[in-house]
Amino acid sequence: MRKFYLILLLFSTVGCASSNLNERGLVTEQAMVVSAHPLASAVGADILRRGGNAVDAAVAVQFALAVVYPDAGNLGGGGFLVLRLQDRRIDALDYREKAPAAAHRNMYLNEKGEVIKGLSVKGHLAAGVPGTVDGMVQVHEKYGSLPWRELVQPAVLLAARGFPLTKLEAKKLNENRKDFIRYSTQRPDFILKSRWKKGDTLRLKELASTLERIRDKGRAGFYEGPTAQLIVAEMQRGKGLISKADLQNYSAVWRSPLTGTYKDYTVISMPPPSSGGLALLQLLTITSDYPVADWGWNTTKTAHFMIEAERRVYADRAKHLGDPDFYQVPVAGLLDKTYLKRRMCNFSLKHATDSDDIAPGEPGPPEAKHTTHYSIVDQQGNAVSVTTTLNSSFGSKVFVGGAGFLLNNEMDDFSIKPGHPNTYGLLGGDANAVESGKRMLSSMTPTILEKDGNLFMVVGSPGGSTIITSVYQTILNVTAHNLPMQGAVNAGRFHHQWEPDVVLAEKKAFTLGRFLGLWWKGHKVIPLSRTIGRVDAILVLPDGKLEGGADPRGDDAAAGF
Ligand code: DON
Repeated sequence: MRKFYLILLLFSTVGCASSNLNERGLVTEQAMVVSAHPLASAVGADILRRGGNAVDAAVAVQFALAVVYPDAGNLGGGGFLVLRLQDRRIDALDYREKAPAAAHRNMYLNEKGEVIKGLSVKGHLAAGVPGTVDGMVQVHEKYGSLPWRELVQPAVLLAARGFPLTKLEAKKLNENRKDFIRYSTQRPDFILKSRWKKGDTLRLKELASTLERIRDKGRAGFYEGPTAQLIVAEMQRGKGLISKADLQNYSAVWRSPLTGTYKDYTVISMPPPSSGGLALLQLLTITSDYPVADWGWNTTKTAHFMIEAERRVYADRAKHLGDPDFYQVPVAGLLDKTYLKRRMCNFSLKHATDSDDIAPGEPGPPEAKHTTHYSIVDQQGNAVSVTTTLNSSFGSKVFVGGAGFLLNNEMDDFSIKPGHPNTYGLLGGDANAVESGKRMLSSMTPTILEKDGNLFMVVGSPGGSTIITSVYQTILNVTAHNLPMQGAVNAGRFHHQWEPDVVLAEKKAFTLGRFLGLWWKGHKVIPLSRTIGRVDAILVLPDGKLEGGADPRGDDAAAGF
């Protein structure tokens, strides 16, 4: 009888593999924006129509998302931006949050050295110094073409006039109401109504005023003057650490993008302090030695191989990755082809490896020395790939009183105690320990692919630790399995991160036969009732048109012309 129930349970939890793999997304002739919210995509497309370039559109979309998608769109968070101009110049901007100067290694531990539950996740101590506004100012100064004011103004209008809530957003605001009240010291506009429903207009007066200051004064509209004073006052009321000096000293950093090749493609992605680009390149380099295209999409064999590669790559991440300004990350050693081949030497096609038998590798020495993603391509062929976040959905749940925006809870991305998993179950050690002024390790993977020297794909995702594997799978879905962009985004996802030693799988990732096949090989596959990642991507088609892949797991939408 028990067996019968188990089989019944399996049938009800594991669905049939994705049926919409061959779906095509919106196809446009010239330019496109794909983001987590239709209103933000529309703002970006409008900037492009007015002659703005992809960077102008990226700035406008970042600010629009801060209004219409407060779960992850933000002023009080940070992110990473990778760009490729039509003349093939590439660049990467790190506007990741930093630990406040007063932060220290043991700040989340009690006298006994035990982790104080929740302290790095909710409330004022969870917040790092926000990087978003400086990031937007810097990218605009270097690459923008339209006046700054015109890029912030659409967000001002959305906040001041209000906008209709989607069903999903209304639900999430309701679910988080209690936390907003508990962790914020003053009542934000977001809780004016006790129960939001689809179509309700959300008007955000305080946020509109903050955005006006940013529109009129740029960087100083946030890191100085009234906004800075409101942030510092909020910190004082809630016993947080971010000071006036932390805000003044914050600066986004230009970094050299991490590049590598996978088959015929050049992959351009984010270097540390994100682990995303490095882990993605490790995964793709390993994959280039295996015939995954012949094995087929999400077959037992393909998935088994991918899980085994992921297990090894995430073990490396736990030990070797951190903020390069504080810790020498052995980037070249970790990407070395011979090193990666060695990592796979105990891989068997027959059965799963136990994660306890996989330790982080020993690469060569260091060389001297609820997130959201959006993808943009403009009429000239410039491409921008941005992943930005507050960390968890609605970050620390702390609204800056009087300023109308949420602060991040990015401090939890540090390893707050060696061996203690963060919200995403990720482990870490010295490389990613909390230090004053340090940036916490990220998994964000904004990526651009070239084929034969031409722009091919712009891609990225939210999803904490699952970001890297979502981007990896989406790239393989197109390059190895020939799916259209939308189909590649629709396709069911799965994820392994070394520890915990389980495979998380969306119900539509595997047929029952493949699911059982993976168990047979020794993989602990857990069918999820929730989804993994929210990929927003753009593919350049052979005739030069653009195909959008907007993730149906959310309200995501493509817009363009
Ligand atoms: O930087 C990181 O890796 C995390 N803070 C990302 C968080 C995230 O993706 C949440 N989204 N669902």
